[in-house]
Amino acid sequence: MDVVEGKLFYQGKLQKACIGIEDGRIVSVKKVLKGDEHYDFGDRLVLPGAVDPHVHFREPGQTNKEDFQTGSLSALFGGVTCVLDMPNNVPPTIDADSLKEKSDRLRGRSWVDYGLFGGIAPGTKISSLQDCHAYKVFLGSSTQSTLIKEENDLARISNEISATGKVLSVHAEEDAMLRRMDEGSLRDHEECRPRQAELMAIERLLRYQDRMRINICHVSCRESLVSLKGSKLTFEATPHHMLLDSSMDLGAWGKVNPPLRRKADREEILAAFCRGEVPMLATDHAPHAPDEKERGFGEAPSGMPGVETGFSMFLLLVKKGVLPLEVLIKAACHTPAATFGLNKGEIAEGRDADMVVIDPREVRQIKGRDLHSKCGWTPFEDREALFPQTVFVRGKVVIDDGSIVGDRRGREVPR
Ligand code: DOR
Ligand code: ZN
Ligand code: ZN
Repeated sequence: MDVVEGKLFYQGKLQKACIGIEDGRIVSVKKVLKGDEHYDFGDRLVLPGAVDPHVHFREPGQTNKEDFQTGSLSALFGGVTCVLDMPNNVPPTIDADSLKEKSDRLRGRSWVDYGLFGGIAPGTKISSLQDCHAYKVFLGSSTQSTLIKEENDLARISNEISATGKVLSVHAEEDAMLRRMDEGSLRDHEECRPRQAELMAIERLLRYQDRMRINICHVSCRESLVSLKGSKLTFEATPHHMLLDSSMDLGAWGKVNPPLRRKADREEILAAFCRGEVPMLATDHAPHAPDEKERGFGEAPSGMPGVETGFSMFLLLVKKGVLPLEVLIKAACHTPAATFGLNKGEIAEGRDADMVVIDPREVRQIKGRDLHSKCGWTPFEDREALFPQTVFVRGKVVIDDGSIVGDRRGREVPR
């Protein structure tokens, strides 16, 4: 047995104790434990690794932007030890063959554990996607997405999905309400993709809440929070919708779907998050190459990287006293794991030993050039964050002192 000692986040609070690890799992948590290898982190924090239920690592097909190796390395350095990867690849991951091909291709290449979404297009047979971890639907067009627009398609899908018990994550913007026009700014982008498109999509999905498990991706406006309150739907908020808004001078670097909205939206989603009212933190890490973003606003693709900076920036909000640690751990670790059926997201007996060690004194400034995504930029340049010093993936140290010391041991999670 190996032992990790430090200030653990255990049973809802920080306490000085030891974690016993065997075969990659946590086998005991006690005040004192003796083991073969003993890692003593003193008064530093030992937290569960984050689980990001929404990333786009671009494999196969767009490896000029990112690939699974760089995307997962970026996750690892950000303290994210498990990701769920989206299906809007080239070709899209929407049937048994494309899913198997993607799964085979990723084997042995990831730094963190991962699960794969199966994308749903109008003709998709849900039974052909039995090897996916969860399902994804786009109700509104976005980057390389396959769309579901018709009510009867949605109704058919809901019947088939309910039998699987798996979650359906939805990009909730009603396609019919999106306008095509010349766009030159973030405000134009917001106008093209109005908040009503998100609200209508959520209203539509609420009618399915008793039929299947639905998760709303990246909630972007305050009215959505009101609609979702008290419903059976789970939802995600992204760091960018909580820290950036359309009044900021970001140009196409801030172009994303759903759009960045007003300062009041941003502040309200962040405040709800800090009160524990947002179930999950998800980065929607969607890297694009700098030359694509520099093409001019209208031409630039939507999406921004974030898997390395999300958890780490929110840890800084904890240090600043804005966000309770237990709220962050719940939204970034525990709830994503519980929602998507992963044996992760908490320090507890039986869970995978995925942990990060944080020294609250070691605040760092974010620099795009220091991050590990292939895209090489970040919309959060110069902001501060608390990056992990040490990261354990299933009981093995993979990052120590901020450098890689272990092997790529990420694997596809059991379904
Ligand atoms: O801005 C976005 N980018 N929204 C999406 O829904 C897709 C994503 C991407 O894959 O680039
Ligand atoms: Zn989306
Ligand atoms: Zn996305």
